[in-house]
Amino acid sequence: MQKWARLLYQPGVPLYGDTRVTGSKEHIDISKRAADEAVVLLKNENDLLPLSGDAPVAMFGKASYEYIKGGGGSGDVFCKYIRSLYDGLKERGVRVYEPVIEYYRQEIEKQYEAGRAPGMTAEPDLSEDMVKGARNFADTAIIVINRFSGEGWDRSKVESPSEFSPWPAATSMPTLSGEVFPDGDFVLTAKEKEMVSKVTASFDRVIAVLNIGGTLDLRWVKEDAKIGAALYMGQLGMEGGLATADVLLGKVCPSGRLSDTFAGTLEDYPSTEGFHESYEYVDYSEDVYVGYRYFETVPGAAEKVVYPFGYGLSYTSFDMEVVDAAAVKEVSGLKKTVNAADFTEGNDGFCFTVKVTNTGKVAGKEVVQLYYSAPQGLLKKPARELGDFAKTRVLAPGEAQLLTLSVSKYELSSYDDLGKVSDASYVLEKGVYSFYIGENVRNLTKTDFEFNNEEDKVIQKLSHKLASVELKKRMLADGSFEELPVGEHKDINACIFEKMEPGTEEALVPAVRGRDSYFLTYPYKEGAKTFAEVAEGKVTLDEFMAQLSDEDLIHLCGGQPNTGVGNVFGFGNLPEYGVPNAVTADGPAGVRIQPETGVKTTAFPCATSLACTWNKDLVEEVGFAGGEELKENNLCVWLTPAINIHRSPMCGRNFEYYSEDPYLTGRLAGAMVRGIQRNNVGASVKHFACNNKETNRKHCDSRVSERALREIYLKAFEMIVHESAPYTIMSSYNVINGERASESHDLITGILKEEWGFTGFVTTDWWTRGEHYKEIKAGNDLKMACGFPERVKKAQEMGAVNRADFEQCARRILATILKFD
Ligand code: BGC
Repeated sequence: MQKWARLLYQPGVPLYGDTRVTGSKEHIDISKRAADEAVVLLKNENDLLPLSGDAPVAMFGKASYEYIKGGGGSGDVFCKYIRSLYDGLKERGVRVYEPVIEYYRQEIEKQYEAGRAPGMTAEPDLSEDMVKGARNFADTAIIVINRFSGEGWDRSKVESPSEFSPWPAATSMPTLSGEVFPDGDFVLTAKEKEMVSKVTASFDRVIAVLNIGGTLDLRWVKEDAKIGAALYMGQLGMEGGLATADVLLGKVCPSGRLSDTFAGTLEDYPSTEGFHESYEYVDYSEDVYVGYRYFETVPGAAEKVVYPFGYGLSYTSFDMEVVDAAAVKEVSGLKKTVNAADFTEGNDGFCFTVKVTNTGKVAGKEVVQLYYSAPQGLLKKPARELGDFAKTRVLAPGEAQLLTLSVSKYELSSYDDLGKVSDASYVLEKGVYSFYIGENVRNLTKTDFEFNNEEDKVIQKLSHKLASVELKKRMLADGSFEELPVGEHKDINACIFEKMEPGTEEALVPAVRGRDSYFLTYPYKEGAKTFAEVAEGKVTLDEFMAQLSDEDLIHLCGGQPNTGVGNVFGFGNLPEYGVPNAVTADGPAGVRIQPETGVKTTAFPCATSLACTWNKDLVEEVGFAGGEELKENNLCVWLTPAINIHRSPMCGRNFEYYSEDPYLTGRLAGAMVRGIQRNNVGASVKHFACNNKETNRKHCDSRVSERALREIYLKAFEMIVHESAPYTIMSSYNVINGERASESHDLITGILKEEWGFTGFVTTDWWTRGEHYKEIKAGNDLKMACGFPERVKKAQEMGAVNRADFEQCARRILATILKFD
């Protein structure tokens, strides 16, 4: 096939041979394997699980019928089928009490007809007679609870009055949420509670299964002795029900581990207090004490934890022993390739060899987690931080495997944004650094190996970027707050000319560029040096770009029309010069292609569930398969992975994101990027950065300290840039410290491009409220879904932007297109 043939001609040709890989059995098997490893066993009293499979079961809760495969919005995926837990158990030959399932089916369908959405339905009444009938049929009851959330709204009834949407929705999801979950969806509704107590009153063997994409109050699971076993199923894509059935039946030994801390109440999370304080801003006052960094550090917080970060049981048992620990010259952690001169000892660190032995009776996989603690020093630090992790292969009983884990000094260091040790620097404070190995953040053994750092060391000297201006205080390790210097309020709408009328910036479709002439034999502008000649090495990119007019370059800086099965637009598309249109597709739980096209893709587990696998190789496999589907459908950039940090359980898009921990996120999402890009198509890592709330997401200011930015919110992006070289990064809608992310020079040019050496291009999120010329000026190379050429031209005339600015952006976009084959 000619280079770019898929982009130029949109052929309906399979990727390899005669059969398509899109939605194929092989890919569905990968989705199923990922789902198998994502299920987390939370509780298993008296070895209630695994089930024998011969005995009948009764299922309760509308979620036994209504399976939620993932979240809503651009993260939804259209696949051939989905399998609920009921379907999965039936597939495995388990007898299920049908009248209850039939009852739920009818009740749920009725609610859908009345306008309710999947997962946003009320738990129907459960009659005593029905429970009695089920009890006569089976000894074992499985209760299934589900939750749903999506893009554009948070898990609450609060809706922003200033949010404009060009797509009139029949239903307001926050309103619906208020109706279905009057006390919020973090707790069981009255009807769910009633159902649970009726079931536990009648059955002695009760298993709870949680089909949820975020966190929930699980005290009822942990504390109710009548619930013998529980699984965090997560949202597992198309084969979730079968995977969960296989875990229940012991066909798969559970090896998932939680990627978040589950606390008892929403208020237990420090982010809750100010979450809805304002539509205009969110104060990240808990600073670096996010997730377990808060619960394991701040006095009094530990007892609020129901299930800790990293937690998960197995049907077998393992022994873990550190057999070797050493300081090494270079570790495979965060590799620093830029500003090498600024480094004293960033790359050296510590390696641990851990022997894991299966000491139980069945084969299974174990996850080894390495945490470290740094001296409190002047900066104060979380008590534990994840340094590395590794998962074993399937170990037979008695079998052992050696795993190597490592952490670099750069990772151990903290960012000093107030100059307590060294201003605007990563510093390794003097004192003792300890290392812990274990099964979860709570169940750890301190290793004998310690690092005694005798004096404060500057690991990397940087400069202030994106400093907070209106965040007044931040939390310290003892739970007290320190005051922060406050600057002057910035106007996010500052513009050299009239801003566009609110609402007119959105849902505009890129204009199709017409051509003056078109010849079949030479379809280019007369005398043009073509882009193919650049690909062939006959013309340099500089020479090619020199012939383009300012208008051509500005055109390249904006989104381009859909072609083929694309629905979220493309870039490039300069036909007179042979630049193809490279079309993007949404994700991250599968390649999102509209069902009208007739193409059904594979729905993989949502990102939070992928994170629960703690398995880099498996996530890379998912990425590779997704990349293949993208390419086979003639698309070029998968808007995947989404890696924002789970700062608050209320964020509506948490299901699309991996974890509360940046290291787990960065490692796994980095593997996803590598998998995708092995196909010579691009990943777009999103949303850069601090898109941790959906309400008023296009204007809301995330007010956050430089330290929390560096250590928590930017860290996973940094890791991925260094380890996986993504083709593209998507800036976020929101504002950070008074600047729209897409207009922030500090963020995009200062940190991402100059400090980290990112070589791909940056795209905006779709229809940001940023001003196009300001985005170009910040180094945001592409404005999606469409650019505003006339406004950029006007800004050029007024001297606010110049050819060199958009030339740089266009160069990065063209250089990326050259990578597609
Ligand atoms: C979302 C992105 C998505 C894009 C294209 C935006 O609304 O925030 O995650 O990739 O739309 O659909």
